[in-house]
Amino acid sequence: MAQDKHNRMSTGISGMDDMLKGGLIAGRPYVVAGTTGSGKTTFSIQFLQQGVRQGERALFVSIDEPPSELRENVRFLGWDVGKIRILDVHPTAKAYNRKDSLVEVGAQRSVGSLREARQDARAEAMKQVSPDLSPQSLQMMLRQELQEVRYSRVVIDSITSLKRLSGGDDDVDMGIMSLLRFLSESNVTCILITDMPDPTSMEPETLMARGMIRFHKLMVASKAERFVTIEKFRGSAHDTQPRPMNITRNGIIVDSHKKVPKSILKIMQAVPSWDARI
Ligand SMILES: Nc1ncnc2c1ncn2[C@@H]1O[C@H](COP(=O)(O)OP(=O)(O)O)[C@@H](O)[C@H]1O
Ligand SMILES: [Mg+2]
Repeated sequence: MAQDKHNRMSTGISGMDDMLKGGLIAGRPYVVAGTTGSGKTTFSIQFLQQGVRQGERALFVSIDEPPSELRENVRFLGWDVGKIRILDVHPTAKAYNRKDSLVEVGAQRSVGSLREARQDARAEAMKQVSPDLSPQSLQMMLRQELQEVRYSRVVIDSITSLKRLSGGDDDVDMGIMSLLRFLSESNVTCILITDMPDPTSMEPETLMARGMIRFHKLMVASKAERFVTIEKFRGSAHDTQPRPMNITRNGIIVDSHKKVPKSILKIMQAVPSWDARI
C-alpha cells in the first residue's frame, strides 16, 4: 500500500479512525451533521479530548448550549474538559423567551407565511440581544484567540445556529466561506456542526468542507438505533458503508467491522428525511 502522505488526526474513536483510514487529514475543515441527539456534540468533545491527550490545544466555540450545561453533560460522561478552552458566544436565554414580541416584529415587516415571519423575527430579536454574533465577528474573535494560542483543533457548535443568529442576509454565506478559508489558512483542523434540515440546499460549509460525517438516530421500539456514515472525504479513501455506533458512558463507540442490519436501513428508507437517501 502506498504510504499516506497526509498528517492524520485521530478522532479519539478507534472505529471512526478505521472508517477514515487513519483519521481526519490535519489542517482542514469538516462538517459533522445529524439530527438533534444524534451525537454531534459528544463526538466533537471526544475529538478535542483526543487532541488534549496528545498535547495539542483545543477550542470549543459554544453557540447551541451554555458552557455550564456543556460541562455538566460532559461530567456525566466522566470526562474532564478542563484543558479544552470553551469560547462562549451563546446569546442570552432572554432572546428565547420573548415569543410575543418575536411575532410582532415579523408582522410589522409583513413577511409572507407565519413560519417565515417567526424565523425572521427570531433572527431580529436574537440580533438585538446578541448584536455581535455573525460569521465575520466570530472570525475576528477566532483570529484573536489564535494569535494568543496555537490551537490545532477547533469545533463550532453549531454553524446552523450561527447562521440563524446572523439573520438571512446574503453576506452570511460569504462570511461562512471567509471563516472556513481563514481556518484553513490557520492550519486548524476544524469541525463545523450542522443540523442541515434541507439536504438539497448547497450550503457553503458543505461545499467547502473537505469531509462530511453524518450521525443517524432512529427510534425503534423505544430504543435508539444509531449509525454513522462518511459522506465525503477529500484526499482519502474511506468506508462507504453505514456502521453501527453506540453512545456509552465512555462516549461514542463505532463498530467499523459490523454492518447496520438491513431491517434498520429499510425503516430509515421509509422515513421521509435525509436518512432515506442512504
Ligand atoms: N452518559 C451517557 N450514556 C448514554 N447515552 C448518553 C450519555 N450521554 C449522552 N448520551 C446520549 O447522547 C445523546 C446526546 O448526544 P449529543 O452529542 O448531545 O447530540 P447532538 O449534539 O447531536 O444533539 C443523548 O440524546 C443521549 O441519548
Ligand atoms: Mg449538540
